[in-house]
Amino acid sequence: MDKKCVVVGVTGGIAVYKALDVISTLRKNDIEVRVIMTKSATEFVTPLSFQSLSQNMVITDMFDEPKAWEIQHISLAKRADLFLVVPATANIIGKVANGIADDMLSTTIMATKAPVVFAPAMNTNMYENLMVQENIKKLQEYGYKFIEPASGRLACGDEGKGKLADTKLISEIVLSMLNEKKDLIGKKVLVTAGPTIAPIDPVRYITNRSSGKMGYAIAEEARDRGAEVVLISGPTSLPDPFGMKVVRVKTNEEMLNAVLEHFDFIDIVIKSAAVADYKPQNYSSKKIKKSSENLLVEFTRDNDILKLLGERKKNQILVGFAAESNDVLENAQSKLDRKNLDYIVANDITSSDTGFGTEDNKVTIISRCGETSFLDKMSKREVAKNLFDIIKRR
Ligand code: CTP
Repeated sequence: MDKKCVVVGVTGGIAVYKALDVISTLRKNDIEVRVIMTKSATEFVTPLSFQSLSQNMVITDMFDEPKAWEIQHISLAKRADLFLVVPATANIIGKVANGIADDMLSTTIMATKAPVVFAPAMNTNMYENLMVQENIKKLQEYGYKFIEPASGRLACGDEGKGKLADTKLISEIVLSMLNEKKDLIGKKVLVTAGPTIAPIDPVRYITNRSSGKMGYAIAEEARDRGAEVVLISGPTSLPDPFGMKVVRVKTNEEMLNAVLEHFDFIDIVIKSAAVADYKPQNYSSKKIKKSSENLLVEFTRDNDILKLLGERKKNQILVGFAAESNDVLENAQSKLDRKNLDYIVANDITSSDTGFGTEDNKVTIISRCGETSFLDKMSKREVAKNLFDIIKRR
């Protein structure tokens, strides 16, 4: 299969260097990148940097010697699976919105049928200028996509909106748009992720080592396959993923309430959160002071959220996780039965390079009807892909 191709249009602004970061991420994801720079962009960063990172010749001028028999702006326009303008100045937005095609970038954008995404970056007053806002609105109505700039201190010293959006976010949006599998369109997916905490007093709590990475990867995969996603997350250090509803909770009870609020409208529920099974019997509203005695905290059982969902479920597909240190498959199978699940994802937490806090995971997925899939060690995103493939095969 041909590689996906993103044509990156770079226009002149102080954020030009940040486009290199986006290109580097796209290349790491095996995307072919073709770069077109406007003349003013080349004043900020030389084409050589873009050439080295994209591993392709950079086009800067309409009247460059043709590198092939095809007319470049037409061949690139056709080759693009997606067109990304980063950073996008008020000038390029204005040109495209008003049908002006007077250089390589604007002509190629006019000639492409691929989705076009603009990531604007400019001074706040320029961004807020009604002419720019009108142009953006017009282009959005025509189906062009915009990645909103962030607020902060701008290069010119002003404070406000106009900073190029986070480059990680820009890359994620592009990769998400290129995702071919859209087999979850129309489905509502609820994912729980991360740990929960059980407070002991106003300053102390117990929790576990879940990083939330597995659940976030599942939520992102569902989003990219077209699902409407609700992510209910315990405390993690991960930023909110774009394009989904994120509900932040802390305790078992908060997670239960958030899940129940959505459960009846959901098609697929994936409970990857590591929920605390116990909480202190007596929460101390005052900070517990130290003394010479040992401290005993008695714990009482808390809700088994997944079990409650299993009892309540109608047509929902219910997927649980089982983090085990021994008898992995037997324990997982017993959880699947006890909690009335459709699938259980079992992993062995004794391995140091998979599971809690790591980038990879090695899991076995068992279905209610006895089908068992042993997956190799792979990234958490790959695990998420396999999980949805298995659910969709049903
Ligand atoms: N789970 C839950 N509520 C809890 C505990 C776990 O919803 N109070 C969910 C987890 O999100 C996960 C699955 O149940 O999907 C894990 O099953 P569980 O038997 O609770 O695992 P452990 O808590 O590890 O149980 P055990 O100590 O018995 O192995």
